[in-house]
Amino acid sequence: MEYKKLGNTKERLSAIGIGTWNLSSDLTENGKAINLAIKKGVNLIDTAEVYGTEKIVGGIIKGKENIFIATKVWATHFRYDAVVKACERSLKNLDVKQIDLYQLHWPNPGINIKETMRAMEKLVYDGKVRYIGVSNFNEKELKNAQAAMSKYEIVSNQVEYNLIERIPEIDLIDYMKKQKITLLAYSPFSHGAIFKERYNNIIKSLNELGEKYNKTAGQMLLRWLIQKDIVIPLTKASNQNHMLENIAVTSFKINQKDMDIINKLTPKNSHLGLSRFKNLLKSYLIFRALLRI
Ligand SMILES: NC(=O)c1ccc[n+]([C@@H]2O[C@H](COP(=O)([O-])OP(=O)(O)OC[C@H]3O[C@@H](n4cnc5c(N)ncnc54)[C@H](OP(=O)(O)O)[C@@H]3O)[C@@H](O)[C@H]2O)c1
Repeated sequence: MEYKKLGNTKERLSAIGIGTWNLSSDLTENGKAINLAIKKGVNLIDTAEVYGTEKIVGGIIKGKENIFIATKVWATHFRYDAVVKACERSLKNLDVKQIDLYQLHWPNPGINIKETMRAMEKLVYDGKVRYIGVSNFNEKELKNAQAAMSKYEIVSNQVEYNLIERIPEIDLIDYMKKQKITLLAYSPFSHGAIFKERYNNIIKSLNELGEKYNKTAGQMLLRWLIQKDIVIPLTKASNQNHMLENIAVTSFKINQKDMDIINKLTPKNSHLGLSRFKNLLKSYLIFRALLRI
């Protein structure tokens, strides 16, 4: 397994992380797939209070050492007391004494980020959380979040990043590189959509390129992300064969010529992912704040 540094810390995370959103109904199969990844050296597992999978993850990691657990507090829990309570719930669900990475799930324009970060920093100070991260923050939101911190640093920003959703390339990645903040790239397969018929051309090109490396289209996609320096893809696979395929991406390197070919498969401003949902959520959160819910 290949490891990457988390942000500006000395923490070493596997170059691929396991997501746990939308696990299949066959929990035994999910558990087997995640255990397989852990055996092969994956140490990063991502969950969130809203996924409803913290207890499942807690069960899987019980008794295992050196697992790096990332979870998230949902945006409607960003008031000081609510952050602290959400963290207590997550610690209980995960059955751990400390959360390795606690992330703000989506920016909430209805609540002052200073109040939220004050609570996040208190959690680190109290030893309940080791590192603070954010998720779905654009460059401006990330800068505001950084400015709201007084003791600790933001080590990661988890955003959707794949060949179909490339908005992070427009400005976020360069800024995060300069700031030494890890980009946890969620949905590297666009929630599985990349394997659907309408993207056949992309998959065909990736398979052709992959022939010389003896790798599949999916492996080429993951490797394309991993080679982008600060990026660690977070993929979900309930199927054990998918999992095995996905974690076998740390033993080869795509040459620059082929990286450039992959870079040209979709335009840089390609934009079909969850960020559409972000604007809807933003309006909802402002509405809640106005009503003081
Ligand atoms: N921060 C956020 O707001 C946010 C939002 C979305 C997701 N996330 C995180 O990112 C993680 C990954 O995102 P995602 O679940 O959208 O996933 P994804 O990894 O882009 O796609 C998962 C889908 O691809 C399939 N798949 C996986 N490996 C494959 C392979 N080698 N070949 C063919 N199909 C394959 C999976 O099928 P099987 O399950 O059948 O194997 C599943 O249907 C989430 O679990 C979550 O932790 C975060």
